[in-house]
Amino acid sequence: MAVERTLSIVKPDAVGKNVIGEILARFEKAGLQIVAAKMVKLDEEKAGGFYAEHKERPFFPALVSFMTSGPVVVQVLEGENAIALNRELMGATNPQQAAAGTIRADFAESIDANAVHGSDSAASAEREIAYFFAADEICSR
Ligand code: PPS
Repeated sequence: MAVERTLSIVKPDAVGKNVIGEILARFEKAGLQIVAAKMVKLDEEKAGGFYAEHKERPFFPALVSFMTSGPVVVQVLEGENAIALNRELMGATNPQQAAAGTIRADFAESIDANAVHGSDSAASAEREIAYFFAADEICSR
């Protein structure tokens, strides 16, 4: 299997619950390495640009409002099959449908505040990583 990189975000609800460490530990325990990380407070422009593909969706304003409601922790995860593995660890977008033991089943309340984001494809991962990190901020080990 190929070594991949993916973008992961610990969203404001999870930061507010003080479970940043618990979430990052799940990535590490699954064999993913954190090769870049930072805590940031997104403004409307940065959050709106990140979710630009959902701009016409009815939930877009609420999504931007939520993502700017508090700090987020953004990281690049690296490892074999990292994109799909991260999505598996996260669980379904709607926490009510997320499998037991996944991050969203354990830490998320609703589809609007669902604890984590993870890139959904190689193309998204490339765009999303570049959206948050310069090449020299990523430290492969
Ligand atoms: S969809 O519906 O299949 O396009 O959803 P998805 O591509 O998985 O991601 C949509 C992102 O918007 C967030 N969000 C919502 N999605 C659906 N419905 C509602 N009401 C909603 N509110 C917010 C959802 O959490 C996804 O965010 P990310 O950060 O990509 O997981």
